[in-house]
Amino acid sequence: MSKHFDVLVVGGGPGGYVAAIRAAQLGFNVACCESNAYADPKGEPRLGGTCLNVGCIPSKALLHTSHLFEETGHSFAEQGISVGTATIDVGKMLARKNGIVKQLTSGIKGLFKKNKVTLLNGHGSFVGRKGSADSEVWQIKVGDDLIEAKQVIVATGSKARHLPGVPVDNEIVCDNIGALDIDSVPKKLAVIGAGVIGLEMGSVWRRLGAEVTILEALPDFLSLADGDVAKEAAKVFAKQGLKIILGIEIGDVKVSQKGVSIDYTDKEGTEHKLDADRMIVSIGRIANTDGLDADKVGLKLNDRGQIEVDSHCRTNLPGVWAVGDVVAGPMLAHKAMEEGVMVAEMMAGQAGHCNFDTIPWVIYTSPEIAWVGKTEQQLKAAGISYRVGKIPFAANGRALGMGDPTGFVKMLACAETDRILGVHVIGANASELISEGVVAMEFGAASEDLARICHAHPTLSEVVHEAALACDKRPLHF
Ligand code: FAD
Ligand code: NAI
Repeated sequence: MSKHFDVLVVGGGPGGYVAAIRAAQLGFNVACCESNAYADPKGEPRLGGTCLNVGCIPSKALLHTSHLFEETGHSFAEQGISVGTATIDVGKMLARKNGIVKQLTSGIKGLFKKNKVTLLNGHGSFVGRKGSADSEVWQIKVGDDLIEAKQVIVATGSKARHLPGVPVDNEIVCDNIGALDIDSVPKKLAVIGAGVIGLEMGSVWRRLGAEVTILEALPDFLSLADGDVAKEAAKVFAKQGLKIILGIEIGDVKVSQKGVSIDYTDKEGTEHKLDADRMIVSIGRIANTDGLDADKVGLKLNDRGQIEVDSHCRTNLPGVWAVGDVVAGPMLAHKAMEEGVMVAEMMAGQAGHCNFDTIPWVIYTSPEIAWVGKTEQQLKAAGISYRVGKIPFAANGRALGMGDPTGFVKMLACAETDRILGVHVIGANASELISEGVVAMEFGAASEDLARICHAHPTLSEVVHEAALACDKRPLHF
């Protein structure tokens, strides 16, 4: 049976479902197909992709629970609260997390109904193109159906990269999927890769009592972040008991029913063995083009296996677009969503836009780490002269009141124009504070603009204000 749509979106993650909703809002007849690796018990496709099912949302639920658990054991007593010895019911923690996932994924189905997006259950793969020049359509096989659509948005996302020769069973050796479902606190947990997942998931299980060792190949810690932030984070994580070993090379990994034994070589070339009950492999993700039959229609991939697109997410094929993790750029849900909206608006003849220079990054550890724009090392490398305003949370009444004065806000402004070039936050609520930096940069603000804006007292945002003042060497509270 063949079905016809104006737009077919392949993949129902943040890039895909948002593109589908926006395209429907703009008057297109839209379908979205989802093959769904995370099928629910009824076998219905679950929308939300990696983000909602096995990424952003479940990880943040576990980070919250484990944070509360740690607070109970540590900072409650400092504030005169005694609750005895805290215990953790891992099963209940996971059930709560699963409940949130279910609520949100079914919420998107509701949004599809509201916006009249047709949900198709099945894996999408290109078949070909049919018709004459002005009425050409793409043919895509979804399950047993042949779908015809004038435009196609590929939003098939990414999957975890695994260590060669070390199969992931999501019991002993876990990628992100198993890491979010570990059913008891391991005594010893090995994490491969000190990137975003390694730090977030390592933090969860450390807070709950596991002895966590993270093995990282690169010699520098968090090289994506501003150097000062990375230095502060390394110091704080070490104090928390998160053991991070840099510059290693993984050798043999032996897996048994009881656990793993990992041979690795350190920076100096000395060989070591790390034994652990479980292991999380978080060494990056790869674009997902499995079974898409991209080659059948000549859809061009780059040398990293990502779909090649221009700055407006156009592929090399007419009427075929690609967004999110399957294309180059940061693998972030909000970047995928921005691209989804941009493409839908471009299809409608609007001036779709996505500012890749102001995409914020957040790492949800404690303290949280967030940034937007350039790091100090990037400015130095580009030969751009800048001024720095850096203010610690320890100088802020609200942070002290919250019992969370770790970290700082660092603002970088152009030495000539004063335009804000980067904002870097390590501290409580950095994930929320960074929005001020994003808005300021989107409006092309100078540090002086932020310095002249009244910030509520007492709030953590006063530290952003003070950092802006400090760019002009006139902080008031530091
Ligand atoms: P995906 O979310 O991967 O969705 C792609 C969908 O397409 C999937 O549902 C898949 O089943 C489907 N699909 C694939 N091939 C086909 C096909 N041929 N036919 C039909 N369907 C198909 N990002 C953040 O911004 N903040 C965070 O806090 C954050 N935390 C994360 C935590 C973890 C543990 C992980 C793993 C990732 C996290 N991310 C986070 C990254 C974020 O999840 C991704 O950037 C985002 O999900 C990408 O969206 P997407 O739509 O491009 O792809
Ligand atoms: P990552 O790219 O953040 O980190 C991977 C780390 O593994 C790197 O530091 C890399 O040097 C290291 N590595 C690679 N190969 C290795 C090896 N063989 N041995 C030891 N170390 C090795 O990737 P990660 O953590 O898997 O996350 C994937 C992506 O998911 C992130 O880049 C991010 O885009 C997204 N994500 C975003 C989150 C957020 O926004 N808060 C949370 C989690 C994931």
